[in-house]
Amino acid sequence: MRILLAGAGGQLGRSLRGVLAGHDVVAKTHGELDIADLEAVRAAVAAARPDLVLNAAAYNRVDDAEKDGDDAYRGNALGPRNLALAAAASGAAILHVSTDYVFDGRGSRPYHEFDRPAPRSVYGASKLAGEIAVRELAPRHYVVRTAWVFHEEGANFPRTILSLRDRPEVRVVNDQIGSPTYAPHLAEAIARLLETEAFGTYHFAGAGAASWYEVTCALYERLGVRTPIVPVTTEEFPRPAERPRYSVLATIQEPRIVLPPWQEGLAAFCARLTEPI
Ligand SMILES: NC(=O)c1ccc[n+]([C@@H]2O[C@H](COP(=O)([O-])OP(=O)(O)OC[C@H]3O[C@@H](n4cnc5c(N)ncnc54)[C@H](OP(=O)(O)O)[C@@H]3O)[C@@H](O)[C@H]2O)c1
Repeated sequence: MRILLAGAGGQLGRSLRGVLAGHDVVAKTHGELDIADLEAVRAAVAAARPDLVLNAAAYNRVDDAEKDGDDAYRGNALGPRNLALAAAASGAAILHVSTDYVFDGRGSRPYHEFDRPAPRSVYGASKLAGEIAVRELAPRHYVVRTAWVFHEEGANFPRTILSLRDRPEVRVVNDQIGSPTYAPHLAEAIARLLETEAFGTYHFAGAGAASWYEVTCALYERLGVRTPIVPVTTEEFPRPAERPRYSVLATIQEPRIVLPPWQEGLAAFCARLTEPI
């Protein structure tokens, strides 16, 4: 398959480049293709003539989005709109990636693909707008929702919390529960999904569930970090954007594609850390 990959420099983009090596991939970083620029997107699709447009690009600065709403919508709604328009016009399918933050997090069982989105943040609302644009404009679409993505390179929670290990203690939220997802595991699941041609919406995230506190405990234990970890509540650690309290993702749409448990992802992350954080 010939694939145009947008957002190729991010955590998922880099991981996809690895697992899609058997395909003919035209990879574009943010510097090479701004998906918010419709003419640039049309030109890239016309030049690549892809069978599939794969969108790994996103504006992911969840807290900044509360004040930079227009930028968040440009990256997360206008960008996918442009890619969907160009894909549909050229006869290509599209795979777009979205987030658990489209849910309000007030549930107590894992969210599946048919649960009703109700975002509580600008970031979540902008990502939901992107999903809707893709569904409306490109009939041959996959929308893959994922969560809590991490990779040994990039901006993510495990790297941030590791960078704080020299403090006397670290305080970590213990009442937000989600699905930590290792980017290469997600990339492998996406590669398998592409073989199915079963278009629709999918939830792919690391198997199991954890709080940020539990992720920190597992990470520090694995790396032999002895810094005391203090569990705190969301109220004790306020952030500009509201986070879902519970946003574990489950799939009933494609139960044959299950990601490894998040602990396996964390083990691979630790094994592949090369540069000091
Ligand atoms: N990270 C998470 O925890 C998480 C959780 C749930 C869902 N997701 C979703 O998973 C997907 C992959 O995320 P990720 O973790 O790989 O994110 P990432 O590491 O932040 O990568 C996103 C990439 O998109 C690029 N980008 C931003 N705006 C762009 C634009 N207008 N045009 C082209 N490229 C642009 C970024 O470039 P710059 O760095 O130059 O801005 C970055 O290289 C996204 O759809 C994201 O919303 C992520």
